[in-house]
Amino acid sequence: MLFNRFYQPDIDVETLEVVPRLVLSDSSELLLRLRWLAILSGRGGMQLACSGGVHTESDALRALAAGAGAVQLVSALLKHGPEHLTRVRDGVTRWLMEHEYDSLAQLRGSMNLAHCPDPAMFERGNYTRILQGWKG
Ligand SMILES: Cc1cc2nc3c(=O)[nH]c(=O)nc-3n(C[C@H](O)[C@H](O)[C@H](O)COP(=O)(O)O)c2cc1C
Repeated sequence: MLFNRFYQPDIDVETLEVVPRLVLSDSSELLLRLRWLAILSGRGGMQLACSGGVHTESDALRALAAGAGAVQLVSALLKHGPEHLTRVRDGVTRWLMEHEYDSLAQLRGSMNLAHCPDPAMFERGNYTRILQGWKG
């Protein structure tokens, strides 16, 4: 499972007490998972599930393309209710049909490190190149 989102308590500086803080995720948390799914699923021999930052059909599709065998949604279901699962599933099915995929298996792992046309994009060494391309 990549990666469980741990419950992280906070500190109140006035009372110096540990306070509970439940922060639901958003899609930006997915990028860490995409990178590690792509790196690890490319090595084979492991079934990986994606947990953290999956909110939309696009998130689910990207996780699957990076190599997830399954995706888990928690924050999205708390925000939008359990019927959101049907919307995401139908969206994935529609995307596969529109893009003429025969099956989910055809998409799964198609963008992992072993298949990605630009594997360097997943590597940290690429950081310098990305920063050089930044336009403020
Ligand atoms: C309200 C809430 C309660 C959770 N409780 C637990 C828990 O008891 N144990 C655990 O391992 N993970 C728990 N999680 C983490 C989820 O199992 C899951 O890893 C994470 O929320 C997935 O990311 P997502 O919320 O972006 O979908 C909880 C998450 C939320 C939002």
